Amino acid sequence: MKKNLFSKAAATLFAVSMAAAMLAGCGGSSNAEAPASGAKTEAAGEQKAASGSTKVWRMAFNQTEDHPQYRVMEEFSKEFKEKTDGRYEIQLFPNETLGAQRETLEQVQSGVIEMSIVNNTHPGSVSDYFKAFDMPFLFDNVDEAIKFVKESPVMETVKSDTEQYGFRIATYMPAGTRSMFTAKTPIKSVDDMKGLKIRTMESDIYVNMMNAFGGSATPMAMGEMYTAIQSGVVDGAENNEITYVNSKYYEVAPFWSQTNHLIVPDWLIINKDVYYSMSEEDRAVFDQLCSEAIDKVQVQWQADVDKLMASLDTSKVTITDDVDIESFKAAIAPTNEKLVAENAKIKEVYDAVQAMK
Ligand code: GCU
Repeated sequence: MKKNLFSKAAATLFAVSMAAAMLAGCGGSSNAEAPASGAKTEAAGEQKAASGSTKVWRMAFNQTEDHPQYRVMEEFSKEFKEKTDGRYEIQLFPNETLGAQRETLEQVQSGVIEMSIVNNTHPGSVSDYFKAFDMPFLFDNVDEAIKFVKESPVMETVKSDTEQYGFRIATYMPAGTRSMFTAKTPIKSVDDMKGLKIRTMESDIYVNMMNAFGGSATPMAMGEMYTAIQSGVVDGAENNEITYVNSKYYEVAPFWSQTNHLIVPDWLIINKDVYYSMSEEDRAVFDQLCSEAIDKVQVQWQADVDKLMASLDTSKVTITDDVDIESFKAAIAPTNEKLVAENAKIKEVYDAVQAMK
């Protein structure tokens, strides 16, 4: 069974203070003690470097230790420490122990923690550029999305837009392709969505998407989702294969329907002042590890999807892989067109995606 997660606020306070206590106790150093303001964070950074101790950054993650993004970040932390001669280390906090993604974005912005992996929805709550990536069927496949974030000139504009809000996009974290999963009935075409209450991520775009598909959206953080399905508050949700299996949603929603409707990025984010407090040399190491992380996650992702889906007991889980995807595309087309027509920033990214196809 899925572990019950702490209440978010309590978990956050608990984990942040535990982290600070642990670090203080073992003679480490952390930005946990550094106040939120940039100047003070930088001053703390200089002091730590001068004393030769390791600066320990905390990175929040909302899923399990088995997740490819987590495994790649474990390796990242190790290499970052080695390549900066022990000046930096990243401590990972999985399973929403520092709070749900929305809260961890706020903590990164204010400097309470240094890093987090968040879904695109969250940068999208401050910068409209990101909302383009929330559009269903924007990319045809994950390789196209990876090529776009690595190579499109518009990505510099997109990524730098968050700095005014106190955080930087360190790198893209591939997060697969999202499909529907439901408790009682399979989804074979968009008509089967009618009347279903489906959990979505917390953004208007997803609410509109679900309405366009004929269902009704219930936005909530991921930590609440298992119980919401189990108790019948919602009829299902949508996510990628890895989250479906690793977080055991198949136990409560045994109908997996391969709708492939969204390829939404996750982003590794870092507090802006913390990023600029590094020396140029250390920043180059960090940036290099960030760019290598994209392919590393993707390689592990592909291997895990096949392995995890094959591990499901087909006497309990029904996989529908011949969904009428065109019916979903037709249902969402007017909503996508409206978004592009009404928002210049979304249009800029959308046009750049089309230009690269
Ligand atoms: C995916 C994604 C997460 C996100 C989650 C969700 O698993 O990788 O970043 O939090 O979906 O639906 O909330």
